[in-house]
Amino acid sequence: MERIGILTGGGDCPGLNAVIRAVVRCALLQNIEVLGFRNGWKGIIDDEKEILDSRAVSGILPKGGTILGTSRTNPYKDPKNIEKLKETFKKNNLSALVAVGGEDTLGVASKLAKEGLPVVGCPKTIDNDLNCTDYTFGFDTAVNIAMECIDRLHSTAESHNRVMVAEIMGRHAGWIALEAGLAGGADVILIPEVPVNIDEVCRIIKQRHSRGKNFSIVAVAEGAQLDQKDVKQEEKLDQFGHVRLGGIGTVIGELIEKKTGFETRVTVLGHIQRGGSPTAFDRVLGTRFGVKAFELARQKKWGRMASLQGNKIVDVPLEDAVGTLKTVPKEYYDMAKIFCG
Ligand code: F6P
Repeated sequence: MERIGILTGGGDCPGLNAVIRAVVRCALLQNIEVLGFRNGWKGIIDDEKEILDSRAVSGILPKGGTILGTSRTNPYKDPKNIEKLKETFKKNNLSALVAVGGEDTLGVASKLAKEGLPVVGCPKTIDNDLNCTDYTFGFDTAVNIAMECIDRLHSTAESHNRVMVAEIMGRHAGWIALEAGLAGGADVILIPEVPVNIDEVCRIIKQRHSRGKNFSIVAVAEGAQLDQKDVKQEEKLDQFGHVRLGGIGTVIGELIEKKTGFETRVTVLGHIQRGGSPTAFDRVLGTRFGVKAFELARQKKWGRMASLQGNKIVDVPLEDAVGTLKTVPKEYYDMAKIFCG
């Protein structure tokens, strides 16, 4: 019986289970067995897997996270791992592998495909910062959660005459903060692409309050830069060289309170944005990507990735999708500023 593998890598994301289910359901229709590798690339290195039959994927569509587990393991950190990984392909007689992930996971997939392994990719990340696709699944869910948090912060901000700072995920790109801020009517939106000018932030807030408003909402992406520096939780890097960000909300909140005199509170949304059930949009997008990734595997289109362009699912070279990130264009940020203040 022919066999294909699937893995999910990087930060988890609502919609991953929709992809897994779609790949398995398509494969079963063609009598192909699917092996689910555990915890991202680690599962391929260690040959840790399970057979995914129809029972394994039953009822998983509304579930957040990934039934396969995930990790930020980078097999290229140690050449021995690449040997072990190749051995797993051989041992399990894999005719294809579907790698579901963001820039890091798909960067590995792209390299492996160049080395001649039968790998295709499927794009995921709540940050929506992957190139060559209009959207990644997980983003819509994260934006909706962050928007709801901003809505909730509005009512308590207004009752207490406070400035509320919401720290939102987004390491190098401010898509979630921008769209949640726009949808939730934030008064200031700060993203990694545009350096924070704290005096300007305070000017906007003071001007708002001088017009009779007694509260303000600031949506800040965790990767927003103050004095051209990241605010980090620790110095340690992960296997792909990323730092753990966090704390910009508190830094900005303290400065706002000091410079404006308005009482300020900070809420860090954190992993709430990544957990829980996917929206309908993310379930459908994950399903469409899964179907496409399976099709790419059947057509032996190694090194290609499923992608959303307009409302069509197409395929693009993995190597074009990775390497640089899709950041928020200046025009989009400038448009959002019309509604700030
Ligand atoms: O997956 C993307 C992301 O959620 C980023 O927005 C965030 O910076 C990072 O992952 C957090 O990673 P971890 O869960 O490993 O701390």
